[in-house]
Amino acid sequence: MDAANLIFTDNIAFTLKEWLDVKAVRQPVFICDKNTHQYCFPLLNSISDKVIVIPAGETSKNFQVLESILEQFLKFEVNKQDIIINLGGGVVSDIGGFAASIYRRGVPFVNVPTTLLGMVDAAIGGKTGIDFKHLKNYIGSFRLPMEVFISIEFLNTLPSDEQNAAMAEIIKTACIYDKDLFDMLENERPLSEIIHRCAHDKAVIVNQDFEDNGIRQLLNFGHTIGHAYESLMLEKGTPVLHGYAVAKGMLEEIDISTELKLLESKEASHMKDLILSKIRIEPLNESEKSTLKAFLNADKKNTDASISFSLPTAIGQGRYQIKLKNEQIRF
Ligand SMILES: NC(=O)c1ccc[n+]([C@@H]2O[C@H](COP(=O)([O-])OP(=O)(O)OC[C@H]3O[C@@H](n4cnc5c(N)ncnc54)[C@H](O)[C@@H]3O)[C@@H](O)[C@H]2O)c1
Repeated sequence: MDAANLIFTDNIAFTLKEWLDVKAVRQPVFICDKNTHQYCFPLLNSISDKVIVIPAGETSKNFQVLESILEQFLKFEVNKQDIIINLGGGVVSDIGGFAASIYRRGVPFVNVPTTLLGMVDAAIGGKTGIDFKHLKNYIGSFRLPMEVFISIEFLNTLPSDEQNAAMAEIIKTACIYDKDLFDMLENERPLSEIIHRCAHDKAVIVNQDFEDNGIRQLLNFGHTIGHAYESLMLEKGTPVLHGYAVAKGMLEEIDISTELKLLESKEASHMKDLILSKIRIEPLNESEKSTLKAFLNADKKNTDASISFSLPTAIGQGRYQIKLKNEQIRF
């Protein structure tokens, strides 16, 4: 993924249409979920009447919905000269990108993210896939979109919690990789500038480590504990938004980094203050912390009885593949 493949626009209808004209694509196939069909597709419906609509939400990332998308590709006689347009959040870009990557061994696609999370993270970097037997993102492929079109027009209709939770992924990038982004957040720069900076960061990181064997793992900061918390809450029947779980995870992982003397306490407090000022969450309480330790062993990033963390070492810097035994994890 090259940062040059990110196209920022204030007028998605115009920009996308112009791009398709240059490519001489007449009837691209849109994939939307129920909400993006209702709220986002009306901006673009003059471009094509070939639209596939899937149910909204994480539960759509399954084989059945995948098959229904592939059946509709057949019906629309999609071929390698066509273009698939994934219009939605991470769910649509993950499953739509995966469908495009396997149909006839791959047809071209672009992502048009409509959530904040999509704009700064999910739509960028070529990870596609679905969930499998309650295992998140277990079936998938690496396949880059031709372009990612980013327009904040879509955020007007995004539920406020979705937007707030997605701030966690932006703060994550700032804390572990980009001090300038951290300063921009503290100085309350406009959201459009922050999205631009964070999306660019993701593209640059992916460009160095497409298949996630090295530096891309920095982006797992907050996710080891965050993922465990998410699973715990799901099991309790009170699911939380991924971003809120990551934000709680970051607070704890900052403490782990300080405890390991990888991070100075002044910088740790600075990061925690930013998280708590921007995201509507409370830190984990003592009983949640102890329950979580059990969950950590089941996390997919854990091998050989040790648990792998990506931890900040200063504002805007971090280390990945820090392997810790359960007894070394104090939070
Ligand atoms: N591939 C990657 O690199 C990557 C990275 C991070 C997350 N993800 C995946 O992304 C998914 C989460 O993505 P998400 O947070 O964007 O969730 P989502 O796609 O489920 O969207 C959240 C909700 O907002 C609705 N919505 C989307 N855009 C809207 C708009 N403009 N107006 C009104 N409603 C709108 C959706 O219908 C949905 O109900 C997860 O499945 C996660 O695994 C993938």
